[in-house]
Amino acid sequence: MSEKLVNVTINGKKISAPASLSAVQAFWHAGYTRVEGIGCMEGVCGSCRVMVRRVNKKEVRMQLGCQTFIEEGMQIIFLAFPAPTHHAYQLSDMKNSWDVHSQFHKTFPETIDCRVCGGCTQSCPKDIEVQRGVELAAKGKFREAGELFIECVMCNLCMTACPEHIAPNHVGLFCRRVMAYFHLRPANLITRLEELRQGEMDVRTDN
Ligand code: SF4
Ligand code: SF4
Ligand code: FES
Repeated sequence: MSEKLVNVTINGKKISAPASLSAVQAFWHAGYTRVEGIGCMEGVCGSCRVMVRRVNKKEVRMQLGCQTFIEEGMQIIFLAFPAPTHHAYQLSDMKNSWDVHSQFHKTFPETIDCRVCGGCTQSCPKDIEVQRGVELAAKGKFREAGELFIECVMCNLCMTACPEHIAPNHVGLFCRRVMAYFHLRPANLITRLEELRQGEMDVRTDN
């Protein structure tokens, strides 16, 4: 028995495709090749950002195209990749954890201008409390902020949504990096490195 087809609009093109397909697969199914903005197809690289509107819903949601299964009447638009962040820093410039706060405000001075508008949180396809993460980081609560951003796939939607050009995802990345840099590595990693140091584990260098 052939699978039920649903009718959707993707980037302005009317498409009929099996309901089991994602937005990306449905676009391919209709013969449109799309390479830009497609990566892992597993929901982890954050490349395939789409705006989605469902039938009889006013709300427009930001989602990942490879994780969005098509539904009758859905309108989907793939979003262009935004300009890269201008934030640059070296972890090695921070001599100890006391330097982190000042380095943060040097790198991300715009975080104090956050309007608390919630645009970043609304735009996040991973349902991260993005605005709260920015607020925590601005207050120097880097551990809590970093933990909030653990599921971030760096899709840049929050950065695109921010009227103050804050790049919340890079704020989150900063927090995760400093957490790892100034704290103990995971126990299994330390054990494995110790095994290597003591020669208890063979390392193959021929491939
Ligand atoms: S925090 Fe920003 S970059 Fe990370 S998944 Fe959410 S919207 Fe994407
Ligand atoms: S979108 Fe920007 S200004 Fe608005 S809450 Fe998020 S970080 Fe703050
Ligand atoms: S293609 Fe990687 S998240 Fe969709």
